Amino acid sequence: MTPDIHRIAVNTGGGDAPGLNAVIRAVVRSAEQHGWEVLGIKDGYNGLFEENGIVRLDRSAVRGITHLGGTIIGTTNRGDPLRWSVDNEDGSATFIDRSQEVIDTLATHEIDALIAIGGDGSLSIAQALFEKGLNVVGVPKTIDNDLAATNLTFGFLTAVETATDALDKLHSTAEAHERVMVVELMGRHAGWIAAAGGMAADGDNDIPILILFPEVPFERHRFMAAVKQKVKTYGYCSVVVSEGLRDHQGRFLSDQGLRDAFGHAQLGGVASVISTMVKDDLGLKYHYAVADYLQRSARHIASLTDVSQAYAVGQAAVELALRGKNSIMPSIVRTSNKPYRWRIGEAKLSRVANREKMMPASFITRDGFGITQRCRTYLEPLMKGEDYPPYRNGLPRYVRLKNTAVPKKLKTPFTL
Ligand code: F6P
Repeated sequence: MTPDIHRIAVNTGGGDAPGLNAVIRAVVRSAEQHGWEVLGIKDGYNGLFEENGIVRLDRSAVRGITHLGGTIIGTTNRGDPLRWSVDNEDGSATFIDRSQEVIDTLATHEIDALIAIGGDGSLSIAQALFEKGLNVVGVPKTIDNDLAATNLTFGFLTAVETATDALDKLHSTAEAHERVMVVELMGRHAGWIAAAGGMAADGDNDIPILILFPEVPFERHRFMAAVKQKVKTYGYCSVVVSEGLRDHQGRFLSDQGLRDAFGHAQLGGVASVISTMVKDDLGLKYHYAVADYLQRSARHIASLTDVSQAYAVGQAAVELALRGKNSIMPSIVRTSNKPYRWRIGEAKLSRVANREKMMPASFITRDGFGITQRCRTYLEPLMKGEDYPPYRNGLPRYVRLKNTAVPKKLKTPFTL
């Protein structure tokens, strides 16, 4: 039986990804076609607390947003947004679970289903809310492409485009100045974005590139021997290092000592560690670059596939909610490589929550420093087409946002 859904809420959690606003627009446009209203919850779940960030999302609120980077309703990162810590007088802290408050506030606003857009952490929170009684449909998102049960996540291809573009540019200066160029890429514990390095060095472009994947334990002497060999042959070398690179004990080379509520380490800085090693062990000239947030906010050169798939998963999420499906997410299923074809599938949120999809061993060359033909077969068909925003005077032109807050409804506000 089709439930009588009239109002949907949507939120975004975790790091932003190019395509998030396309999902939001798709959710609003599809919901309106079915006569439903959409409310946006600002900053993950924070907008529900004291009802301080519940906004009306209608056709006019989402006009032109597909071309914006980030997320128009904000997000939260690093931490479980439903587990708050309150300081006690004696200096200790008490943790408060605010999930019931989330469920009750959504019920007060007569929200029939929440569409939660996020990565494995955010989707695990969505799954926990479902287990407590909330109707939830997830939407898979992350530049890291490390979500289970989907062939691809939107945001990843734009990150790959930015990474290959950066490598392409940096390799020329490395060659001209005969340096070892170390480029750090994101991806958390998985090497999907780092694999882009392998695409930059395809058969036609004979570029000396070594990739340091998080899936391959770092061995300093083997790496140095490989750098030495490349420099001997080519006079220079590029090194792509994934931020999640670990040693044989599983320790991150760039662990900053900070952990979020899921126990994830704050990564970043491994390029400088590797560069220093190159200098100390081989005495070679080096330079390092960190692509950092450019990889996930570069909406002006978003991949067309990212944007199309983002829009499609947004539409599909609304359809799933309409059909009364729960604890589920639309996934991307690849049906053909040449030409690249895909369709929307369905996956249970429990298959995705708190799981990470690593690069398969068959995608990494035996020496651990490159990608195999299998990996190329996966990546190659995806790397075509851009979705440009409108430009004026050589710069992208972005819309201005309208956020209309909905009136508060709680008779007795929750207190901590
Ligand atoms: O998950 C996306 C991602 O960009 C990772 O690649 C990276 O490790 C992390 O988020 C960085 O997050 P933050 O916004 O907390 O710096």
